[in-house]
Amino acid sequence: MHDIIHQLEKKRDAARLGGGQKRIDAQHKKGKLTARERIELFLDPGSFEEWDMFKEHRCTDFGMDQGEKIPGDGVVTGYGTVNGRLVFVFSQDFTVFGGSLSETHAEKICKIMDHAMKVGAPVIGLNDSGGARIQEGVASLGGYAEVFQRNVLASGVIPQISMIMGPCAGGAVYSPAMTDFIFMVKDSSYMFVTGPDVVKTVTHEEVTAEELGGAVTHNTKSGVADLAFENDVEALTYLRRLINFLPSNNREKPPVQPTNDPADRMDYSLDTLVPDNPNKPYDMKELIIKVVDDCDFFEIQPDYAKNIVIGFARMEGSTVGIVANQPLVLAGCLDIKSSIKAARFVRFCDAFNIPVVTFVDVPGFMPGTAQEYGGIIKHGAKLLYAYAECTVPKVTVITRKAYGGAYDVMSSKHLRGDVNLAWPSAEIAVMGPKGAVEIIFREEKNDPEKLAQREAEYKAKFANPFVAASRGFIDDVIMPHATRKRICRSLAMLKDKKLENPWRKHGNIPL
Ligand code: HXC
Repeated sequence: MHDIIHQLEKKRDAARLGGGQKRIDAQHKKGKLTARERIELFLDPGSFEEWDMFKEHRCTDFGMDQGEKIPGDGVVTGYGTVNGRLVFVFSQDFTVFGGSLSETHAEKICKIMDHAMKVGAPVIGLNDSGGARIQEGVASLGGYAEVFQRNVLASGVIPQISMIMGPCAGGAVYSPAMTDFIFMVKDSSYMFVTGPDVVKTVTHEEVTAEELGGAVTHNTKSGVADLAFENDVEALTYLRRLINFLPSNNREKPPVQPTNDPADRMDYSLDTLVPDNPNKPYDMKELIIKVVDDCDFFEIQPDYAKNIVIGFARMEGSTVGIVANQPLVLAGCLDIKSSIKAARFVRFCDAFNIPVVTFVDVPGFMPGTAQEYGGIIKHGAKLLYAYAECTVPKVTVITRKAYGGAYDVMSSKHLRGDVNLAWPSAEIAVMGPKGAVEIIFREEKNDPEKLAQREAEYKAKFANPFVAASRGFIDDVIMPHATRKRICRSLAMLKDKKLENPWRKHGNIPL
């Protein structure tokens, strides 16, 4: 028996060494942790239960049957806990065949995905891979497709999060692309469908891997990624923080984190947040920070489509999703990128029972040929569709402008907004007073005095929240300093909200 135990230990040690010390050193030299070090840092200490440590590839081509077989085959899989809550994890080991995905490697990932679905727990992928195992050919491609299929079936059932910590190229990008969030590590990770060499051959563009698909590119230009981190340690620490906000599956309510922040805390500085001049911007994030529990706001996509702000926070301990127009950027207009960004977030919240709190200051949809040619009609409709379809509690606060179609879109009463509040500074109208009088009093356009008078009349009539309130489209006009209290009360009232959409196979969101 002693010998057998000794053998087991030896086998385990060999598996733990992955591709060997030389390759581990090379990984460290690049500023990257190994697959196992990452899991250790990510999960609660001692909670990791590893599966398939001894699984090996079955490839016999290109001398693969002659060479050394590395147990585990380039991916470490299993489950553990984050702050005591169950999560499944796979971590690709770049020291073994460059973390490339073989049939066996894919089977290991699929096994934990299947279990995660059975027990209702998130799947976290730590990606660091050279893509399809070149020696295996179609067996590897089949493996990818098996993972893709599971990504789709798990979507909206369990949270799926991808952390890109090395290469992720070719069709391999499509598994992360179908997960709920993609995080990237700066300078050491990249994602692209075709690499710089192919790009050069086909389009004659010269571009580095970093420019083409690095963390900064995908967090600022493409919107493919949701957050970028300085290094592996920071990335994994934030990943733990995000998991704290999320329910484990679509049948659970989000976790509650007790807080000492009083639900009725007033913040009088909010009374002067909105400037007297309606054309002057202010920072919507200041409002968010001052209203949520303990000023703790986990922003998603902070560097992309900054004219809308999205992220998670808590009210009285319970997770909420925040969506807010940002007057500091493009005056808070809705455009293609911001509509897609917010729509996807609202759908995530809806799928996982997370109430949506919306702060509105929107002058309308962005005009121009770039937007129209780019399909603002279709993309703007995504946000409208997402809010209209959403059945979780929806609380909306209009702080200033709510003009035109954008008023309707931003979680209005008409899209089944549950509680719609407005600050006294709110202006709810078809458009701003200047634009409105220039159209309806066009014949007076050469009489600036008359036009100014008309503008003042329009402003007095519509640039306030009371016309909407008189119709019940706004439930109450509230003092800015009481915003937290009013939202907390609304969410408490909505705690057991039940609302279902009619049965259908699925809707046809304008993709
Ligand atoms: C097998 C691979 C591999 C792969 C890397 N390795 N990628 N083995 N299949 N796809 C091995 C290398 O042979 C090497 O082995 C070790 O991993 C480390 O690779 P290096 O090249 O030394 O590392 P580095 O210089 O950091 O470059 C990393 C890399 C490069 C940029 C990822 O290895 C590379 O370009 N690999 C090929 C990428 C690729 O074309 N993949 C297929 C994409 S198509 P040793 O023994 O020397 O340590 C695809 C289709 C998916 O993925 C379709 C899904 C639908």
